[in-house]
Amino acid sequence: MSAIQVSNVEKEFKGVQVLKSVSLEVRDREFCVLLGPSGCGKTTLLRILAGLEVETSGELKIGDRRVNGLAPGKRNIAMVFQNYAVFPHLTIRENIAFGLRMRKDPEDKIKRQVDRAAEMMHIEKLLDRYSGQLSGGQRQRVAVARALAMAPDVLLMDEPLSNLDALLRLEMRAELKSLLQETQTTTIYVTHDQVEAMSLADRIAVMHGGEIVQYATPMEVYANPATTFVGGFIGNPPMNFLQLSSVLAPALGIEPPSGASQLGIRPEDIVVDGSADSWRLKVGVVEALGPHKQVSGKLGDTWVRVTVDTNLDVNRGDDLPIRPNVPCLRWYDAAGKRISA
Ligand SMILES: Nc1ncnc2c1ncn2[C@@H]1O[C@H](COP(=O)(O)OP(=O)(O)OP(=O)(O)O)[C@@H](O)[C@H]1O
Ligand SMILES: [Mg+2]
Repeated sequence: MSAIQVSNVEKEFKGVQVLKSVSLEVRDREFCVLLGPSGCGKTTLLRILAGLEVETSGELKIGDRRVNGLAPGKRNIAMVFQNYAVFPHLTIRENIAFGLRMRKDPEDKIKRQVDRAAEMMHIEKLLDRYSGQLSGGQRQRVAVARALAMAPDVLLMDEPLSNLDALLRLEMRAELKSLLQETQTTTIYVTHDQVEAMSLADRIAVMHGGEIVQYATPMEVYANPATTFVGGFIGNPPMNFLQLSSVLAPALGIEPPSGASQLGIRPEDIVVDGSADSWRLKVGVVEALGPHKQVSGKLGDTWVRVTVDTNLDVNRGDDLPIRPNVPCLRWYDAAGKRISA
């Protein structure tokens, strides 16, 4: 049993509050992704869990154990760092064995664990080399193998693919996913890449300004963003937000829920429709992306993006009649919090 429970954790650095009452519960064997923009506190939260940073207040539990104050080596956690450090003066074998040696595991166990981790990461043939003789992608694999070799209860990964080029990243992402399904290790994975988060996570915890603003399955986060920040951060292009002060909702014959001050609609949930009460989009940019076209333009004062059929004849300067697919409308208050209709 290695569920993780973070309760009301706060962190201050010299008077600046970096984490504000963060609570997060990760089930045994679950793959949780922490997603958020740079500086929102992702690394800080991971480091606190690993015991490398001390929380200002709050409680941390791994399995049934309260781990506050426990030394990092006693938490049975392995961490892959944002700037993974592969020691240049050690062979790859010794790099992978590093944590096990620190833990003073017996020699035969070390060999077994290193061989298995290397095999999982497809680097068995590199074990006798030094890191200077490896590509960036191979070094990244070594860093992950070193963490896996520990057979930890909990695996913490801080942007483990950030240093890879796009293609290798895609490949490693798929590999990591199948690997972690196999090892069934409880994992918290940090990224600021929303596609990576959507593809890997059982649940995504979206962080913003030191808080977790939504924690749900990828599809739930996508379909029902809890705040306008989440809707804008997840999805490419992001969700459109329109102020209700304009005449938009009445024109559609929809009564917004009380307290609503803006509506959110995904670009693919807007349809081109020439009926009398539709909105008129002043087309500014048309991007032919292959499977579909991305049309952007002005709706009143607001820049709106619409995903349309690739065969639609639409050009800059057109007045495109559009309307939202009404069940896909989401409502938000003035502060950007979702109001369920
Ligand atoms: N040791 C420290 N002393 C003072 N401030 C710190 C320290 N470590 C982090 N911070 C601050 O805490 C905030 C959160 O940092 P953190 O590294 O957790 O962000 P992050 O979400 O991991 O960002 P990134 O995506 O850029 O890695 C930032 O504003 C950062 O400047
Ligand atoms: Mg970070």
